[in-house]
Amino acid sequence: MTAPYPRLAARKRIAVLISGRGSNLPSLLGNDLGGDVVVIGSNKADAKGLDIARDAGIAHFVVSHKDFETREAFDAALVAALNEYRPDLVVLAGFMRITTPVFTQAFAARLINIHPSLLPSFPGLHTHARALQEGVKLHGCTVHFVTPELDRGPIIAQAAVQVEDDDTADTLAAKVLRQEQQIFPYAVRLFCDGRLRVDGLRVTTLPKSTTPVIATAAARV
Ligand code: GRF
Repeated sequence: MTAPYPRLAARKRIAVLISGRGSNLPSLLGNDLGGDVVVIGSNKADAKGLDIARDAGIAHFVVSHKDFETREAFDAALVAALNEYRPDLVVLAGFMRITTPVFTQAFAARLINIHPSLLPSFPGLHTHARALQEGVKLHGCTVHFVTPELDRGPIIAQAAVQVEDDDTADTLAAKVLRQEQQIFPYAVRLFCDGRLRVDGLRVTTLPKSTTPVIATAAARV
């Protein structure tokens, strides 16, 4: 029997940060991301999402922001904890901390976040209540690269939901979350497959590579 050819492209190592339920973890762990979630980190020891990491046998860590006097010191500790796992990509999946350039620069161009609104509308918190208050008819979610400016980096993917007359912040959150669970793994997969090109705030998607990811032994010497 012939052994399979070795793959040229190594699978990407993905680190995920959470602060709470980890409600996007099942969709990230349950889809083929073109890479592996090698660690899940949190700034809160009681984050429910850490149970998902434990159940899935994935390495996890906690760096509590309460142990640091400044945001920069916390971010430096977080960068150090993440670097132990040599991530190619860091994914913020409900990580509820405002980060500083210490963090964003350490993982520049390999740091993505999911935000529960159609950015650039409604950056920051309480997005569903604000969407209702503003009377928008379309709301949604955004996956974007993280830059030093809060919720303002290049947009990778978005999905919209209709705001119905009887929606509340809670029903809207549930509808948006279902969309998050679709676009988040999709966006991570595009990153892992090297298909994202960033030009200013604009992200374009490269076609799927037609180059086979196999090599003969001769080609590798
Ligand atoms: C999601 O809505 C995500 O967009 C936002 O945080 C929520 C997930 O948090 N950034 P959690 O996992 O339910 O705690």
